[in-house]
Amino acid sequence: MSILIPDRLRCEYLFDPVGLDVTKPRLSWELISKEPTRSNIRQRSYQIVLKRDPSTIVWDSGKIESEETCQIECAGLLESRTHYTWKVRVWDENDEGSEWSASASFTMGLLQATDWLAKWIGAPVEEVWRETAPPALILRKAFTVAGIPKRAIVHVSALGLYEISLNGERVGDHILAPEWTDYHKRVQYQSYDVTSQIHSGENVLSGSLGPGWYAGRLGLSAFSNGGGRRGFYGRYPRLIVQLEIENANSETETVVTDCSWRVSTDGPIRATDLLDGELFDARCQIPGWDSPGFDDTKWKAAEESLGPRLVAQPNEPIRITQTLQPLSVSEPTKGTYIFDFGQNMVGWIRAKVNDAPGTEIRFRYAEVLNTDGGLYRDNLRGANQEDRYICDGAGVFEPHFTYHGFRYVEVTGLATCPSLNDLTGCVFHSSSPVTGAFNCSADLLNRIMTAIQWTQRGNMHSTPTDCPQRDERLGWMGDIQVFAQTAIYNMDMAAFFTKWLQDVRDAQADDGRFPDFAPHPYDSNSRFSGNPGWADAGVIVPWRAYVNYGDTRIVEESYASAKRWIEYVHRHNPNLIWLEKRGALFVYGDWLNVDTFTKLADFPKGQAQVPIEVYATAFFAYSTQIVAKMAAVLKDQEAATRYERLASAIRDAFVQEFVTEDGKIRGDTQGGYSLALHFDLLPSHLRPKAARHLLAALEPFHGHLSTGIQTTVRAMIELTRCGRSDLAFDLISKRTIPSWGYMIENGGTTMWERWDGWVEGGGFQDPVMNSFNHYAIGSVGEWMWKTIIGLSPDENAPGWKHFRVEPIPGGGLTWASGEYHSIRGLIKVTWRISKNEFELDVVVPPNTSATIQMPTNGSKPVRVESGVYNLKSEFHPK
Ligand code: BGC
Repeated sequence: MSILIPDRLRCEYLFDPVGLDVTKPRLSWELISKEPTRSNIRQRSYQIVLKRDPSTIVWDSGKIESEETCQIECAGLLESRTHYTWKVRVWDENDEGSEWSASASFTMGLLQATDWLAKWIGAPVEEVWRETAPPALILRKAFTVAGIPKRAIVHVSALGLYEISLNGERVGDHILAPEWTDYHKRVQYQSYDVTSQIHSGENVLSGSLGPGWYAGRLGLSAFSNGGGRRGFYGRYPRLIVQLEIENANSETETVVTDCSWRVSTDGPIRATDLLDGELFDARCQIPGWDSPGFDDTKWKAAEESLGPRLVAQPNEPIRITQTLQPLSVSEPTKGTYIFDFGQNMVGWIRAKVNDAPGTEIRFRYAEVLNTDGGLYRDNLRGANQEDRYICDGAGVFEPHFTYHGFRYVEVTGLATCPSLNDLTGCVFHSSSPVTGAFNCSADLLNRIMTAIQWTQRGNMHSTPTDCPQRDERLGWMGDIQVFAQTAIYNMDMAAFFTKWLQDVRDAQADDGRFPDFAPHPYDSNSRFSGNPGWADAGVIVPWRAYVNYGDTRIVEESYASAKRWIEYVHRHNPNLIWLEKRGALFVYGDWLNVDTFTKLADFPKGQAQVPIEVYATAFFAYSTQIVAKMAAVLKDQEAATRYERLASAIRDAFVQEFVTEDGKIRGDTQGGYSLALHFDLLPSHLRPKAARHLLAALEPFHGHLSTGIQTTVRAMIELTRCGRSDLAFDLISKRTIPSWGYMIENGGTTMWERWDGWVEGGGFQDPVMNSFNHYAIGSVGEWMWKTIIGLSPDENAPGWKHFRVEPIPGGGLTWASGEYHSIRGLIKVTWRISKNEFELDVVVPPNTSATIQMPTNGSKPVRVESGVYNLKSEFHPK
């Protein structure tokens, strides 16, 4: 019997998903060794058996000789609505077979448009359009189940946001479903198993609908077509529900949305908006409305309409992943209570409210406080972030169709002083599993990583947003482009990126321009698109997904659009220096570098911004090189050669145009050197020279960074690559502005948008753009993982089949420890320095290998196969 156990079986990255519409879903498992210390354990073969209920074999792969454990396509022909179970067994390098794994399952959704019998329904369309937050629509349908239900699945979607219940009990735990896509092109549906909620006889399906991204306010609304602030995709929310009940005789009964449903706007959610918040009047609750026996004859009949294409949701839903209790409550002015959760978080509050009927209680949310102890809300711009609750006696309030970015909640309207237990903070976001645990001997560095992780969670609400609080909250591509690798260390981003990269492709302009943010609610042929470093995320993010998850399907799906983007830039810039067509409004460039400082009079000015032509051409070369690699992965040899040549020609043009013989790059900026080094744009003889200029460029800033969001992590990595990790450690340990330590020391529990978001003696930066929950500068997480823990994926053995372990101690650290749960299993790295010895422990999961480089002078890289390793070497800290 083999010592291998196949474990953690997943389908399309998800555990036992319900409602898939991928016709060839991919399976994966991880291998656990019964003897973890035994080395060189490999999977030589596997066998998968896929069954349809109850026991019909749909596909038996037979014994397949392969080390592959992920991205294995199901070969069986899969049918709509069907529940499948599967298991796997493996053979090790000695051809010893394992036991069969425990069974996993997946349930197909509705694969054909014709599978949908349900109609989109909503309230009868009003003549008068209101520019204010509308009440939620409530809908219900009573129906009778004739047989005895054996299994029931409900497929649901909305144009807007929905919550549905069956017999008064909430279905699922998703928040802000069906999430944000380009609703002109597609909307996601969710499928829930409701077998335990249904019974024979009378049942009631009910739902509430809010405007959400579809019909409510969106960020940058000032740019909306026609200047309206609401209704970017449509004005009237719609719901679609298809409940399929299989009874004991294997007959199916189906309940669908149609004009027999009843609708009303008289429910308790009197006004609701994603950005502005919710007004809940508890006195308007309608007893029994979501249960059998309620008289709905006074409600209106629903109106049917058409809707966009429905697709199954591929990513983990938005869910509450944590609750927080406030740490303290203050009363800066009489009757105004401010709760402090001690953490800048994203979600909403759950509040116990016991005041007299009719009392209105207001909850206002903010990230930071003013010096007088009151909320600072100027940086929210037009997002009101305020919930109101009108009491009907004792109750618990929790909003439904909104979300807020906050650390502080101000409560007014209460008759008596509240207690800390009255409020709970509910943290929610796309529930991608946590994959990374980082720790080291420096408290500041741990706090920086924790803040990065909070920022990441705060900006994953089905799209990777810039910020979660002001009236913006858009999937800005430049931010995730630079943050993607950090995000991947911290959380399993595979399913999330699968979903979002479709949003990116949906927003590509006809001429090949990628958008600057996705979803892009405006006309994709106008407005925000084609900006260097932002649009390039359409190439760079899929590549990161490939490198970390071995996901060739993402590469396949992104390839054509990535080529179109490169062709677009090339077509307009035949001389290979990117001067033309660099975005619609202006080039963002190395955004928020220190040239944008306004409150630090002594800080050097005008030496930080990378000249735009240098910056843009660097991205042109980098993205072209990635497209060449994508072509090679997909075995499109002709294109691989063509893009390889183009990339090389762009690099030559870059050097010729911008780089002097002594390695000086036009502009002489930290950011410019970092980009050129990081994107490998320079011939080898110029690299050390450019690196010396990078070091010199720190001097005018007294050893600080001057970089913006696009070059910061690249500077950290390049300083380390050129042998000056001491300087990188000095930067990560700084507490003076600009530094991560400055944010943390000044109350930051998440990453700030700007290095100078708040300045001692100067106060807050310009409220027009000053978020305290922006992950772009947190891209330094990638450097921390790669340098302090020392873990890097290997693009030649994608999906962590082979990886590097190369910790570089510094900054006075005496130990560090990291765990990364890769798609092929849990990797652990721990090191410590004691006396003059560096000791390293590494766990390399079964069926993977690693190259370990000890940080001692003269030590050579060692390649190891799976197992547990302890290495020691003499070490003399500098
Ligand atoms: C966002 C950024 C974004 C930028 C484009 C800002 O308003 O918050 O994070 O990348 O616009 O330059």
